[in-house]
Amino acid sequence: MPLLAFETSCDETSAAVVHHGRVLSNVVSSQVALHAEYGGVVPELAAREHLRNLLPVAREALRQAEVTADQLDAVAATQGPGLPSALMVGLKAAQTVAFVLRRPFLGVHHHEAHLYSPWIKGPPLMADFSELQPNVSLVVSGGHTLLVHVRQGLEHHLLGSTIDDAAGECFDKTGKLMGLPYPAGPEIDRLAEGGNPKAFNFPRPMLDDPSDDFSFSGLKTSVRYFLRDHPSLLDETQRLRDLCASVQGAIVEVLVAKTVRAAKRLAVNWVTASGGVSCNRALRRELAAACARNGLNLRLAPQALCADNAGMIGILAERKLSLRAEGTALDGDIRPNWELEAA
Ligand code: KG4
Ligand code: ZN
Repeated sequence: MPLLAFETSCDETSAAVVHHGRVLSNVVSSQVALHAEYGGVVPELAAREHLRNLLPVAREALRQAEVTADQLDAVAATQGPGLPSALMVGLKAAQTVAFVLRRPFLGVHHHEAHLYSPWIKGPPLMADFSELQPNVSLVVSGGHTLLVHVRQGLEHHLLGSTIDDAAGECFDKTGKLMGLPYPAGPEIDRLAEGGNPKAFNFPRPMLDDPSDDFSFSGLKTSVRYFLRDHPSLLDETQRLRDLCASVQGAIVEVLVAKTVRAAKRLAVNWVTASGGVSCNRALRRELAAACARNGLNLRLAPQALCADNAGMIGILAERKLSLRAEGTALDGDIRPNWELEAA
């Protein structure tokens, strides 16, 4: 019997149906265009859009999965971390469905779900929890940059995180300085393909720091000063491409070097990566090359599951419910600042 999952932690409204570790449907309605004119996600607008879109998105997820509501076996939703008003929409909707259908409900940690999305292979998108352990996992998104040691399935330890901006935030903020539309990550990725990553030398923050933490705000500041001193550079397409490739190169080098270093130190065989930034082509290429050089196996989240989606929430929820029968209380509240270690 299948499980229905909701994800509304930020600016994607998503519903998915999963069954026996397989993603039967994964519908995502993105609000990116709505927030673009504000240069970032506006929480109140996000919540209103989730309210408007969740029902049609859920209906479409059931239709694509060819499942009716009364055939559902369980319901899940992202419980945190995320924007409080946005989280509330998906969590309360899921709890209501579970209450009406008298089915178990599970609240899921958003980053824990990202962590396990590389365990899903596809198409068809199927999870395999017997592989990939132990591993070192990089979770890189607009809100977070985490390095995690997964000792075995569902047992993980946070190694490090960003002490200031997340990697995706660095892409988005430096892109904004270059006049690129929000979110700038995919645009920098596109422009950088035709650019020279060695054209301009930007700092690699905390590259040599022995901790597994990251920092990206200094890189953003250095791009700001660089553009103050070279304003006309933005008018020349090739130099803009070189700038994108150079900034991207700095971010990617730090992410790759610190991930591989942690994997070697902890003597794991597997490296995994997920989160919106793991769509980045240079990151995917460089991580693959570095893992190959160091004898590490790499599994990247499938492109469809890199960014926020309910499929990853459903896969993790089904797994957890199958291991321990009880779910979360139906009156459980959102957890906007939920620590990964507490999940
Ligand atoms: O995981 P996600 O959809 O949402 C959360 O932040 O949780 O990640 C969105 C982030 C944004 O910062 C976006 O610019 C970045 O992922 N991103 C990329 C690419 N695609 C999305 N960054 C670099 N290259 C990309 N191709
Ligand atoms: Zn996310």
